[in-house]
Amino acid sequence: MTRRQLHLNAFLMNTGHHEASWRLPESDPYAHVDLAHYVRLARIAERGTFDSLFLADGPQLWNNLAQRPAGALEPITLLTALATATEHIGLIATASTSYNSPYNLARKFATLDHLSGGRAGWNIVTTAGAEAARNFGLDAEPAHAERYARAAEFLDVALKLWDSWEDDTIIADKAAGVWGDDAKIHPPRHQGRYFSVEGALNVPRTPQGYPLLVQAGSSEDGKRFAARYAEAVFTAQQTIEDARAFYADLKARTVAAGRDADHIKVLPGIVPVIGSTEAEALANERVLEDHIVHAHGVDRLERLLQLAPGTLELDGPLPSDLPPESAVEGAKSRYTLIVELARRDRLTVRQLIGRLGGGRGHLTFAGTPEQVADTIELWFESGAADGFNIMPAVLPSGLETFVDHVVPILRARGLLRTEYGDARRTLRERYGLPRPANQHVIAPALV
Ligand SMILES: Cc1cc2nc3c(=O)[nH]c(=O)nc-3n(C[C@H](O)[C@H](O)[C@H](O)COP(=O)(O)O)c2cc1C
Repeated sequence: MTRRQLHLNAFLMNTGHHEASWRLPESDPYAHVDLAHYVRLARIAERGTFDSLFLADGPQLWNNLAQRPAGALEPITLLTALATATEHIGLIATASTSYNSPYNLARKFATLDHLSGGRAGWNIVTTAGAEAARNFGLDAEPAHAERYARAAEFLDVALKLWDSWEDDTIIADKAAGVWGDDAKIHPPRHQGRYFSVEGALNVPRTPQGYPLLVQAGSSEDGKRFAARYAEAVFTAQQTIEDARAFYADLKARTVAAGRDADHIKVLPGIVPVIGSTEAEALANERVLEDHIVHAHGVDRLERLLQLAPGTLELDGPLPSDLPPESAVEGAKSRYTLIVELARRDRLTVRQLIGRLGGGRGHLTFAGTPEQVADTIELWFESGAADGFNIMPAVLPSGLETFVDHVVPILRARGLLRTEYGDARRTLRERYGLPRPANQHVIAPALV
């Protein structure tokens, strides 16, 4: 029997996930707007037979400009360029349901799916923060529950649009002079609370039907949304116990939503800092920590915890009277994760900033390739993960080290494919997921 295999996604972020990565001698501070940098990263990930790569995004200028490279290329455009530079790897772009309209966005993802031969994925986000809201004519961030309600309707409309062409709409009968079948076009005619969309999509049905649906929110609303729509879920988990509980909860919710538990793949993030010995890995981590400018970290933490500037003391603990998650309208689950991390490990603000510097709350792990592979295997085999979101602290070198030194171990253990094979596969096939049926076509078994 073949062994169940890992799904690996490369989460790419300019010079790396560590906030100080851009300061290292090897790093290019302009990499975030350099196509060649991303092509290089995509090809390294493809050499490591990853399932996919992923770009985060938000329609606002993130980050304090002094702290780290800011501004980013628009992901769907960048992934379109990467589609021409790669052959097999899936291409997942983040796009917001709060600040897009379904027709335009459904069209863009359909285009990416065609151009990449069925390798498109959409990380569906509702976008936390007032900065983005103010870029779109709103005074304040819409309430958390409101954002998820809009996201659900957005998805329903997008699915209607992607299904508005049946698979065999195009006949292309040159002899008869008939190109397509109008009877196989199904305009959404949607009138809802947030959207009104009349006509069919102006892009034919795509190789996958629609992009792989990915989601990354872990609040109650986020998990409910994931159980209903998501085929892959990115998540930040600090401990294997928390990851197991999250995994079991999400699978149970997915079954309760009438779906197969195996049709949602759970991928916790890991920030591996690798060295040929444990001492070398810890030294590599130390170098990164030594490059952190703590004033930036304090500023960021105060904003995240919704505290007034100047509240936090670098060598003191977090205040004991922080608001509960229910009072947070931004990224609820990340807020809780950070507060729990600081309290559980009794961290000072300085130590917390060091821990968050690498992965903003994702599991940071310094070790040898064997130790990294052991951690991945342990989580994978004990009901905590279906795969991992690999978030190298430094790019490109961290991805290169992972692919050259950890991937061979995972392959030798039978946990990862050794090659993609000759056949072209869609992103959904890489994740072992079925191609979705068109909602307008009755499955033959049911006729
Ligand atoms: C790996 C990962 C990547 C994410 N990428 C983005 C992103 O690109 N843009 C964004 O607005 N939110 C992003 N998020 C945040 C989530 O979409 C979500 O807002 C956050 O986890 C809080 O969700 P909650 O309010 O449901 O707890 C990401 C989260 C994770 C775990």
